Amino acid sequence: MGKSESGPAWVPFVDVRRHNALLREVLDEAFRRVLERGQFVLGEETEAFEADWAAWCGARYGIACANGSVALYIALKALDIGPGDEVITTAFTFVATVEAILMAGARPVFVDVDAATALMDLPQVEAAITPRTVAVLPVHLYGQVGDMVALRQLCDRYGLALIEDAAQAHGARFRGRRAGTFGDIACFSFYPTKNLSALGDAGAIVTDDPQWAERCRLIRNHGRAQHHLHVQVGFNFRLGELQAAFLRAKLRYLDAWIARRNAIMGTYRAQAPGGRYWHWVQTIPEAEPAWHLAVLRTPYREALREWLHAHRVQTGIYYDTPVPFQPAFAFLEVPPDRFPQATAWARETLSVPLFPEMTDAEVHRVVDALRRFRP
Ligand SMILES: Cc1ncc(COP(=O)(O)O)c(C=O)c1O
Repeated sequence: MGKSESGPAWVPFVDVRRHNALLREVLDEAFRRVLERGQFVLGEETEAFEADWAAWCGARYGIACANGSVALYIALKALDIGPGDEVITTAFTFVATVEAILMAGARPVFVDVDAATALMDLPQVEAAITPRTVAVLPVHLYGQVGDMVALRQLCDRYGLALIEDAAQAHGARFRGRRAGTFGDIACFSFYPTKNLSALGDAGAIVTDDPQWAERCRLIRNHGRAQHHLHVQVGFNFRLGELQAAFLRAKLRYLDAWIARRNAIMGTYRAQAPGGRYWHWVQTIPEAEPAWHLAVLRTPYREALREWLHAHRVQTGIYYDTPVPFQPAFAFLEVPPDRFPQATAWARETLSVPLFPEMTDAEVHRVVDALRRFRP
């Protein structure tokens, strides 16, 4: 976004060019290293990133893969989930969560979200369990982890696997533990706008279980145990060495970026607390989010959006339709009144700019526009 004659430059919703420009030297160095080594798939960089990523999360094993969607699919397959199985998940997420369940051959069973947090409403999970349920797949939406200790207990009581979709929640904590360490297995995306991002698609799985880690590794690479020995059906879900090298280089800065994201969110909350016309997404007790999106909720969404755009503040909507109501999932025949909270969030959610390289002046322009909004 550039300056125009009629006003100041836009405050961009996110600016990956600014982000990566600051890292030019370390990215160039990573590129040079891979180029000189000449190994582009499943080499030193991938192995090192897997170890670094698992350690950063606080998990034992890391498996890098092509993207976050594939990470979810691999995790489901590693746990042997498929036809005849039901997986409980949230109605309010990115479609990939649900697609992965369907691609694995299982059936998604949706639960509504909490009115305050937009996270899966945990008290409703138990009622969704049937004899076919094999796993629960919560999504740490916007960078916040729900009460995973309570969910873990519920899963243990019913003998269900717990799979975390942590695509948006790198570094988010609940009771001091990081996203990715509550479930049997957890999945991350490093899409270019995520808190840790590649220069293209990338993803990873973490787990503490050596057998599942091994199965994920096999599924990621054609079930290949040795060069010409394929011990299970897998596919090519590998991550390239270049992306692994970029991710390794960037990981060193992730704590600082999360601190900056959270500081910006702190400024927003303190200086534009909301009230009658809109309010920020709420945080659950004992959670320390690593904010991926700065999300508010308002019955005046169109008016607020127009107001912010008039003040040259970009906005985003995540998401405007609960997944079961997307046309692609009509075959699941979910009644339209089934998820009132997800439907209300979809109607009222609005996100304002949030990225670590935002200047203080940009942050204050967002604050100022929000404070002065009247519907
Ligand atoms: C909640 C959630 N799950 C899964 C994914 C899929 O990740 P990817 O885009 O890397 O395939 C995303 C990414 O947008 C996401 O936000």
